[in-house]
Amino acid sequence: MTLRSWLADAEHRLSLEGIDSARLEAQLLAAAAAGHDRAWVLTHAEEEFSSEGANALIDRRSAGEPLAYILGWREFFGRNFEVGPSVLIPRHETETLIECAIDEISSRPPGCTVLDLGTGSGCVAITLALECPDALVTAVDISPDALTCASSNASRLGAKVRLLKSDCFDALGDERFDLIATNPPYVGLTEVLPREVADHEPSIALYSGPTGTEFYERLAAQTPNHLGDGGRLLMEVGHRQAAAVRALFVNAGWRHERTKADLAGIPRVVSVSR
Ligand SMILES: C[S@@+](CC[C@H](N)C(=O)[O-])C[C@H]1O[C@@H](n2cnc3c(N)ncnc32)[C@H](O)[C@@H]1O
Repeated sequence: MTLRSWLADAEHRLSLEGIDSARLEAQLLAAAAAGHDRAWVLTHAEEEFSSEGANALIDRRSAGEPLAYILGWREFFGRNFEVGPSVLIPRHETETLIECAIDEISSRPPGCTVLDLGTGSGCVAITLALECPDALVTAVDISPDALTCASSNASRLGAKVRLLKSDCFDALGDERFDLIATNPPYVGLTEVLPREVADHEPSIALYSGPTGTEFYERLAAQTPNHLGDGGRLLMEVGHRQAAAVRALFVNAGWRHERTKADLAGIPRVVSVSR
């Protein structure tokens, strides 16, 4: 069988499963099975293709496993991050958090201290360390497996990030930061998520409690002890949460600074100060 005909069959199978980018995914899975990149797939379509390994990947994808876990990586802010089932797959909307954080860091003198709270794959902390080399970046997560993944990404991408296992701020003593950026768990326990997310991504990265705002409540109460003078807390929020999160913080004595929408126009990052 040529690679071209395998790709046509694979695209058809993935479209029947309701996968939107079936052609692209088939190409990426063929590339992964062959140990090459997508450019190789596009330039070798007439060659004979040994389909056994690739068929196994299509089976996994058809059964609902996320593409990023099968490939073992996801692109975020122009870099590839290793991912596995112990970490949330980086989302494009989280690039809005990066843009807000870069704006903040750029407006401050060198040596700005930054905390990424709930780092997962490390995509936020590592991107900030690489985009803002004068910043001093710390990242924490409650999950040891996530920290292993973040550490591996930091070494491979050459980012200097201090990584600590911590339940929220617990391991940080009385340390204060100029900027705290977080994409916390913000899904309510009764919210219905796509099967691909609910069945495969780590619950600890998704769910915060019954309402979905529990982690923000904890941040509103605990962050004042960890922000320096003039410090900012930047939070990613779920697609219907911005107003509720703003109100929660204002009622707890915080000042709302800015809410930034993502590329889809959804209010995505809420920035607050004391
Ligand atoms: C939504 S994920 C974000 C991961 C990554 N920052 C990103 O944007 O892709 C939330 C992360 O917070 C971590 N987390 C959950 N509860 C935590 C807690 N109490 N303290 C520290 N980290 C926590 C999870 O393990 C997970 O890695």
